[in-house]
Amino acid sequence: MKLIVFCLLFICDLINSKRTSPPGYNKLKTKNLSECQRCKVLTDSFNYWLDKTSRGKYEGGDAAWEESKLKSYSRSEIRLVEIQEGLCSELKKHQDYCYSLAEDAESVLEKWWFLDNPQSVDLYTWLCIENLQYCCPKNHYGDSCSPCPLSNNQLCGGHGRCDGEGTRKGNGTCLCQKGYTGKLCELCDSNFYNTKSACEPCHKACDECSGEGDNACKKCKTGWEMISGVCTDINECLDPSVCQIGQYCVNGEGTFACRMCDMSCKTCIGEGQSNCTTCKPNSVLWSGNCIDDKQKSDILRNTLRRAALYSGLLLIAFFVFGYSKSLASLTILIIALYMYISEKAYNMSILDVLFNLYLS
Ligand SMILES: *[C@@H]1O[C@H](CO)[C@@H](O)[C@H](O)[C@H]1NC(C)=O
Ligand SMILES: *[C@@H]1O[C@H](CO)[C@@H](O)[C@H](O)[C@H]1NC(C)=O
Ligand SMILES: *[C@@H]1O[C@H](CO)[C@@H](O)[C@H](O)[C@H]1NC(C)=O
Repeated sequence: MKLIVFCLLFICDLINSKRTSPPGYNKLKTKNLSECQRCKVLTDSFNYWLDKTSRGKYEGGDAAWEESKLKSYSRSEIRLVEIQEGLCSELKKHQDYCYSLAEDAESVLEKWWFLDNPQSVDLYTWLCIENLQYCCPKNHYGDSCSPCPLSNNQLCGGHGRCDGEGTRKGNGTCLCQKGYTGKLCELCDSNFYNTKSACEPCHKACDECSGEGDNACKKCKTGWEMISGVCTDINECLDPSVCQIGQYCVNGEGTFACRMCDMSCKTCIGEGQSNCTTCKPNSVLWSGNCIDDKQKSDILRNTLRRAALYSGLLLIAFFVFGYSKSLASLTILIIALYMYISEKAYNMSILDVLFNLYLS
């Protein structure tokens, strides 16, 4: 039942979100495309409609068919018109870009369509690279489609991309992946070390390293110190002055934090109201808790009530003792167990209270 309701809600949500999407929503959400990307969108759409019309589904017994007898349907004007009618309409994203470029490029597209041997020239190459000059061939960049830097036959050594690759933009520098640097991304970046095949990150304790692990550091990061060749976490909390009064210190790997004591404490060694070390005026320290007069009388009343209950129970055991010794032992055992469990439930047991009363 729950599941059905959940599903219904989910469906409603979907419908709702569709309905409330403003027109032009896609346009707002997507970034501007580069000219080359727009051209790719257009040629992809063109190829989509080329495929859609490949079976000549519009062929058939009208006057247009007669005309297309002269040329085969595959490169007929009528097929081109059909492609152009569909062009961009199937797109869910970037449709506006597609339509505007399709308009601008209409005559170039027609030129390509009526080439002598159009199949031999890929539309993308013809339109985007050669005619509109928005794009460059693979692994080329910039105004004049210069070659991108190669190393070991791979673009930027296989560890980066070339700025502007495939477009008429960019300056062709290698933009290296994380961990790599150099003109051809052939070096390891700082705080990375070289294995045979790759650059790996140094251990988190290192600032620079020659290999894996915290014993291969050349330098330690702040918060760590070199102890017999290993970068070891510094426990900043050992210095009592590291945090302010009213705060306690928490050590972490390579770091530490100062946190506020519980409101009831003046100073403390940890979180919560039972970790106080000194108290504010008008309260006293009882087993790590700072308690005021009202709390103190509450605790005393509560303790007294429990003491009376335990005494009563022990009195019963005493009477049972006169009747049967073994039954009395069992009774005492049960009472002891009850006392133990009951005292555990209070954060200040009778013994604690006696101890604190003795101290104060
Ligand atoms: C996106 O295109 C619009 C219109 O062509 C232009 O005004 C705007 O500056 C472009 N934004 C970016 C981030 O390129
Ligand atoms: C090339 O372009 C990149 C990113 O666009 C830039 O960071 C870098 O400084 C440029 N390099 C040169 C030599 O202009
Ligand atoms: C006292 O502080 C320590 C360390 O922060 C914490 O682990 C412990 O739970 C605290 N004790 C109580 C009773 O809150």
